[in-house]
Amino acid sequence: MKIAQRIQTIPPYLFVEIDKKKEEAIKRGVDIINLGIGDPDQPTPNNIIEKLRESVTDPKTHNYPPYQGTAKFRQAVALWYKKRFGVSLDADKEVMALIGSKEGIAHIFLAFIDPGDFSLIPDPAYPVYKTGTLFADGFPYIVPLLEKNNFLPDLEEIDEEIAQKAKLMFISYPNNPTGAIANKDFFEKVVKFAKKYDILVCHDFAYSEMTFDGYKASSFLEVDGAKDVGIEFHSLSKTYNMTGWRLGFAVGNKEAISALSIIKTNIDSGVFKAIQEAGIEALTGPQDNIEKMNKIYTGRRDVVINGLNKLGWNLKPTKATFYIWIPTLNGMNSMDFANLLLEKCGVIVTPGIGYGEYGEGYARIALTVDEKRLEEALERLNNLKL
Ligand SMILES: Cc1ncc(COP(=O)(O)O)c(C=O)c1O
Repeated sequence: MKIAQRIQTIPPYLFVEIDKKKEEAIKRGVDIINLGIGDPDQPTPNNIIEKLRESVTDPKTHNYPPYQGTAKFRQAVALWYKKRFGVSLDADKEVMALIGSKEGIAHIFLAFIDPGDFSLIPDPAYPVYKTGTLFADGFPYIVPLLEKNNFLPDLEEIDEEIAQKAKLMFISYPNNPTGAIANKDFFEKVVKFAKKYDILVCHDFAYSEMTFDGYKASSFLEVDGAKDVGIEFHSLSKTYNMTGWRLGFAVGNKEAISALSIIKTNIDSGVFKAIQEAGIEALTGPQDNIEKMNKIYTGRRDVVINGLNKLGWNLKPTKATFYIWIPTLNGMNSMDFANLLLEKCGVIVTPGIGYGEYGEGYARIALTVDEKRLEEALERLNNLKL
């Protein structure tokens, strides 16, 4: 038996060591505080659950769904986009349901990257952009996201020859893992760049609604000309606490949506119709849970940022996402730092290197436990006498 080369090109799973240590600590009875997982700890709102309960008993939801999503789901997406961003979408040609946004993100590379093609991939970033390129036998060209640039890519630093050859680029704001945000000026620059080099822009917008202190994120598609060059990936996972339900969507450029649908029709058979019904309820029903969640995350953010600043960090309050991206202690290697916090404090954070080479020297904290546990984690850090 010989496994494919493409699997061997995937970088080793860097969290194995941490996972092993976590299991050992749990066996020893250590009270672990896990700040490593980007998964909301609060339940899916009741109106969405009730809609699923009702839909699942309707036999009309039991057969194969339409590949691109039901017409009703796509219309709900278009309506939500118009209401939230003022962006008009053709529900037939510019919207497609996904089995969670990760599925669409992973598959878009098969639609645009031929062997040897380049993609422009931010670093640090959600790892699927890079592995998606590798699975399509392409080359990920790393675009660093540096703190001095507020974790935005410096488009002028991208090698001209590579830009000419690149087929696709990924951006994502609000950003995982850095918590950075982007404004429309930046998106305008991206549109100009993409038009100049004829590149598809993929904007991963999974954290669009997780914003604080009155800040509201803009859609990439709000910018003139964006739909000529780009698509946006969306997810119901974080917005409606629906990570396990697997529902997302892609919107924007119709040629790109159509290319993605060709890949998908040959790989999957769409999203269970009852889940899409629940998704319609999420998008068109009461939205107050979003505000409620953002209040919870704001409180947690304040606990962590104030607490860490008292311990000697110098962090500004983040405007979006439930992640805090912190420099390690004294320039420590990110794996050593994560191991130290696990071994000495029973606190799990994600080492920055897991998000790419430019994540080295950082760690990610997820605000997915309550304030009391966060205070306990900070107390343990304090006792470390950093
Ligand atoms: C930046 C980013 N994009 C996409 C996803 C995928 O989300 P889902 O597949 O649940 O829609 C995640 C999940 O953590 C993420 O952090």
